[in-house]
Amino acid sequence: MTETFDLSLEQAHAYEDLFVPALFAQWVPTLLRHAGVGPGLRVVDVACGTGVVARAASEVVGPGGQVSGVDLNPAMVQVARECVPGLDWRVGDAGDLPYGDASFDASLCQSALFFFPDPAAACREMVRVVRPGGTVALQTYAELADQPGYGPFVDAVVRHAGDGARRLLGTYWSRGDVAQFRALLDEAGAEPTSSESVLGEVSFPSVEALVQTEVGATPLADRIDPAAYVALARDVRDVLADFVDEQGAVTMPVRAVFVAGRKR
Ligand SMILES: C[S@@+](CC[C@H](N)C(=O)[O-])C[C@H]1O[C@@H](n2cnc3c(N)ncnc32)[C@H](O)[C@@H]1O
Repeated sequence: MTETFDLSLEQAHAYEDLFVPALFAQWVPTLLRHAGVGPGLRVVDVACGTGVVARAASEVVGPGGQVSGVDLNPAMVQVARECVPGLDWRVGDAGDLPYGDASFDASLCQSALFFFPDPAAACREMVRVVRPGGTVALQTYAELADQPGYGPFVDAVVRHAGDGARRLLGTYWSRGDVAQFRALLDEAGAEPTSSESVLGEVSFPSVEALVQTEVGATPLADRIDPAAYVALARDVRDVLADFVDEQGAVTMPVRAVFVAGRKR
């Protein structure tokens, strides 16, 4: 879970092929339920990535509805368009959405709020583009203290790479306080209507693959010498022992949080 999303087309394809099925797809039905997405509605998927939420919303709204997806990263948008050419895909910033006021019945945002430099501004934009009475639904992840797998994992990385690693690996877990999250929606102009915490899971073929994905493919790799890297993998194997099966595959719990509100 790296903190930047400056991805190439190849990386965007890898995101769609590997990370969407491994982590992101599982949250979509819950997000659609909180948003009240149903037949005939107009829906926007903000920070849509390769479009997993928009695609599912499009199945639900059917031919009488309308779905748009917007993302800052052109490669993500290109892959989204390759997957489903018929939807309205746009390159754009969550802080300045390319839609008029009240264009949608629901705006959704999955696994992205923690990347936005100004989450409050993004929430205001998500509220602006829905009609009064429309819904805004967001999904992020619980804080590290509430993550039975990633909590001990990040502690292990910090032991080997220093405390700066906590900030680098912390992005995904930085917006998990449900009370703050509800307040954000409230201040943006949407009355909070529901929230939920859901324990899902993420799998890696091995501890080495987990360490490679989460550390080896990030700027942290430059801070850990080869010996420390080996020691880190050993430490991670110990702290995550409960989540490693006989074949060596890792299946860790991941806690997601959902908050939805209705535009006043
Ligand atoms: C972890 S991905 C989630 C993508 C998608 N929602 C999903 O569930 O698969 C985070 C996405 O946020 C996008 N993003 C980051 N900052 C953004 C911004 N300011 N405006 C729009 N999209 C942004 C990234 O380009 C990336 O596609």
